[in-house]
Amino acid sequence: MERLKDKVAVITGAARGIGRATALLFAREGAKVVIVDILEKEGKETCDQINKNIGEDRALFIRADVSEVDDVKDMSDVIVRKYGRIDILVNNAAIQPIGTILDTDIATWDKVMKINLRSAFLCCKFIIPHMIKNRSGSIVNVASILGLRGGDKIIAYATSKAGLIGFTKALAEDLMPYNIRVNAVAPRAIDTEMFRAYRSEEELKKKMERYLFGRLGRPEEVAQAILFLASEESSYITGEVLVIGGYC
Ligand SMILES: NC(=O)c1ccc[n+]([C@@H]2O[C@H](COP(=O)([O-])OP(=O)(O)OC[C@H]3O[C@@H](n4cnc5c(N)ncnc54)[C@H](O)[C@@H]3O)[C@@H](O)[C@H]2O)c1
Repeated sequence: MERLKDKVAVITGAARGIGRATALLFAREGAKVVIVDILEKEGKETCDQINKNIGEDRALFIRADVSEVDDVKDMSDVIVRKYGRIDILVNNAAIQPIGTILDTDIATWDKVMKINLRSAFLCCKFIIPHMIKNRSGSIVNVASILGLRGGDKIIAYATSKAGLIGFTKALAEDLMPYNIRVNAVAPRAIDTEMFRAYRSEEELKKKMERYLFGRLGRPEEVAQAILFLASEESSYITGEVLVIGGYC
């Protein structure tokens, strides 16, 4: 099936993890995929893998820090010059520093808000005008279960993801007149470098039975949910948050 045939899809943070799995899946579904990331080596590898194994000229890598205005502006200019349109935007790039209110310093708080929340605003700001021209588009924001229910020692990250959920709902209202849909996914425990960075094997083993089906989710399982929300299969859904991996 080619559910995204000829669509131009921009995926931020797509060099690895959930973003990478989404880029591979979108390309297999017929999309032209733009991989945006600060990790040059991994970004190019993902891009090459798609172009070699899925379809020639199917992927493009752009090195951009999506929390910086100039990078986002240049990125959208390059994409529109090359493809002439943007149909899908997946705001996925994020960082996850650990810390309570007591040990999170102000610089870390600001950095998390900039990378996890301002980045989505910036990408939307520069890309939405191109969607409006076509009176169609789909935006998927990658939030987190922690943005819905909180969690310990993760104050800045959980707050940024709650903000992204609010942003999703408000933006969905703003864009209804233009036939542009905006939804979010809220994954729980997914086996990526971000998830493993602050958790020891021992800690993971202890917690495993509390996760859905006693295991971590796979990035590909999140990618399938993002595909559903990005594609016409969810044509009558906007402003929603899809939880992946169970609520508690
Ligand atoms: N892994 C989980 O358990 C989990 C759970 C809930 C939500 N999420 C969310 O899923 C998304 C993907 O996370 P992941 O687990 O694949 O982590 P990851 O760390 O593997 O991927 C994040 C990607 O974002 C990129 N990135 C970070 N800052 C950037 C910037 N300023 N500009 C451009 N790219 C930048 C990184 O280089 C990396 O490639 C994130 O939004 C994360 O918050 C993950």
